[in-house]
Amino acid sequence: MNPLILCPNQIQVLHLMSVQSYINKNQERFLEELIALLKIPSVSADPKFKSDVFAAAEFVKDALEKAGAENVALCETAGYPIVYGEKIVDPALPTVLVYGHYDVQPADPYELWESPPFEPVIKKTDAHPEGAIFARGSADDKGQFYMHVKAFEAMTAQNALSCNIKFMIEGEEEVGSENLDLFVKENKDKLKADVVLISDTSMLSLEHPSVTVGLRGLAYLQVEVTGPNRDLHSGTYGGAVANPINILCQMIASLQDEDRKITIPGFYDDVENYSSAYRENLNKAPFDEADYKKKLDIEALEGEKGYTTIERTGIRPTLDVNGIWGGYTGEGAKTVLPSKAYAKISMRLVPNQDHKQISKSFESHFKAIAPASVKVKVTPHHGGHPAVIPTDSVGYRAAEAAIQSAFGKKAIPTREGGSIPITSLFQKELGLDPILLGFGLDTDAIHSPNEHYGVKNYLMGIETIVLFFKHFRALSDK
Ligand code: BES
Ligand code: ZN
Repeated sequence: MNPLILCPNQIQVLHLMSVQSYINKNQERFLEELIALLKIPSVSADPKFKSDVFAAAEFVKDALEKAGAENVALCETAGYPIVYGEKIVDPALPTVLVYGHYDVQPADPYELWESPPFEPVIKKTDAHPEGAIFARGSADDKGQFYMHVKAFEAMTAQNALSCNIKFMIEGEEEVGSENLDLFVKENKDKLKADVVLISDTSMLSLEHPSVTVGLRGLAYLQVEVTGPNRDLHSGTYGGAVANPINILCQMIASLQDEDRKITIPGFYDDVENYSSAYRENLNKAPFDEADYKKKLDIEALEGEKGYTTIERTGIRPTLDVNGIWGGYTGEGAKTVLPSKAYAKISMRLVPNQDHKQISKSFESHFKAIAPASVKVKVTPHHGGHPAVIPTDSVGYRAAEAAIQSAFGKKAIPTREGGSIPITSLFQKELGLDPILLGFGLDTDAIHSPNEHYGVKNYLMGIETIVLFFKHFRALSDK
């Protein structure tokens, strides 16, 4: 009998088939492992969870080792460790650097969760008829970065890893990635790669797969308004002494005009204005306004005059109060004219706006508009630069090709409103444009009670990542 001789292309097809059947055979375990990771409450914002954040880092280290990574280590930082691991198949091959984060947002308010945030359950939803895993961090970002660990395991197990791979999974993304700057600057050689691959964003839907090509930046501040030196009886003093909560509300309200333009002087100076052709194209993405409103249970949308919802969340800057407090908020009523009022304010920024500059402008404006009856303190928190990803790179074309093979559709490029500070850091320090290949949906309730991630999105994500490696290798000239 003649020996079967296969050409390299056929071998690749066979490899891919065996990787896919490995994924199919192991999908239950892939889900169970993710569920185990989701049980660890790795909330980076709250020191109460410190040992859990470290436990999550250990979990990831272990998972990378088991999946076949080498040189796996917890790299210390001034905060939580960065988990690093790699598999260099052949230095001559292209290298993919995978970034993700194992920390999660606080789960508060706990009482609004239908099942406890760190006890994952799978339930069907309208958007996920095949089931979704409900847990804090399921979509942001444990479920998403873990797809890469499992795609890597499947490719390694089937001898089909076609590129070198490096993993860098951090534990401080949700608190601004403040120690990442130094780590990236000090480890440029270690992190050397041909492309960065990040799954920490959304796609439009499984029917309309998309790749994110822009993220907004962020400036986050806390303000404190002080009136009298102690809480006062609101009957004895009310009407004569400034109430810092009333004043704070007036000050915040004045930060936007009736067209929802931000009134901080110079705020729009550097904002990139897009051509009508660019805007037209952006607005071609499928968007159903009635459905959008229905899902949020709102009667009307509101935002900057002259822009569509896609533009308002993708290419325009915003200002939002994230939290406001002061005075008496307990049960029943207490008559008090409070001494202090506080708010946490964020501004989402777009290309060319600098978060440090914007924070400074905010601070001077906020102090300037304060009446003489109060004192104002402004404390900047973290920030992050916006990022725009070109669509003519090998990485983007590989992502497009992977989506085409997995979904049978052309990927729609989208601009998203969230921020991943490391995106622009990778561009600046490593000269690499990250590929934002996310599989979450906007309705997955990230940062909100009942966060969930579709089981199908998880499995399709693993499959698409495998295809990305195939196409990236084929399209690279290495
Ligand atoms: N995964 C999100 C970023 C994101 C959200 C991208 C939605 C696209 C759409 C990320 O984990 C996140 O929440 N980032 C923070 C950044 C901040 C803490 C510096 C954000 O956007 O608020
Ligand atoms: Zn997040």
